[in-house]
Amino acid sequence: MCPLVSARHLVWLLLLWCCKASLGELKVRVRLEDGQVAEESLLADSERDCITLEFRKADGTFITYMADFKQEVKIFRILILGELERGQSQFQALCFITQLQNNEIIPSESMAKLRQKNPHTVRQAEDLRGFENLQMDVAVNFTKGIQLSSHIHNVCAEAREAIYTRQEDVRAWLKKGVDGSMFEVLPQSSSLLVLHPCKVCSHDWKACICSYRLSLEWIPCSLKYCKTRDSSGKTTSYKCGIRSCQKGYMFHFYVTQKQLCLWDEET
Ligand SMILES: *[C@@H]1O[C@H](CO)[C@@H](O)[C@H](O)[C@H]1NC(C)=O
Repeated sequence: MCPLVSARHLVWLLLLWCCKASLGELKVRVRLEDGQVAEESLLADSERDCITLEFRKADGTFITYMADFKQEVKIFRILILGELERGQSQFQALCFITQLQNNEIIPSESMAKLRQKNPHTVRQAEDLRGFENLQMDVAVNFTKGIQLSSHIHNVCAEAREAIYTRQEDVRAWLKKGVDGSMFEVLPQSSSLLVLHPCKVCSHDWKACICSYRLSLEWIPCSLKYCKTRDSSGKTTSYKCGIRSCQKGYMFHFYVTQKQLCLWDEET
């Protein structure tokens, strides 16, 4: 049984704070964009100061979002099941690395203490934060990438040939003293080279710009504070819950051939 600080918490909270755990896992049912219900798993490790959010889509695609607070980096990993009849390998893995912003997700320590009532409820986020377009125009060397986050070797192992970031992230990391030799700027459209979106590209062997859209339906994105007044009339505030957000991402990245981007077809 978790020691509750105050019974007042129970009255209005779906999610409760308890325990002094450094590891906490929460399974939250959410409705995905395609209408299907999926189980989101949120694993917090307050010792390593990171949170991993994972879920599987109905088509088998497995999405991982990891927030590494120590190095202020977030990693998206996408495992897409291949179409064997089209000569693809069993799965295709992509890794996108970018800076973690403030107020994207609550601290790992708070996440580790989060518990939920009514785990069968399909939850909907309170705040809709829309879609963000990200031009992932730089390739990251897997071996050297450990400098960006110690988690890359675990999370991106299947995607070693397809780890991407943005030039603006690279600039910020170089200022922090990260070794620039791990980055390789990818071909961009220019007067000499025209790169089309893979979606409209008619040749399977031509280089193009691939897009991948993903939406995180339920992220605990900020803490709620409540006020209490003691007998002397002094008010103090305390953490009493979370706000949840939905946030979408549209990643655009260079591929050497359309074959590597078959989900991005015109429908
Ligand atoms: C990545 O870095 C390692 C270690 O320096 C190097 O051996 C390897 O060739 C690099 N990979 C690419 C694709 O440049």
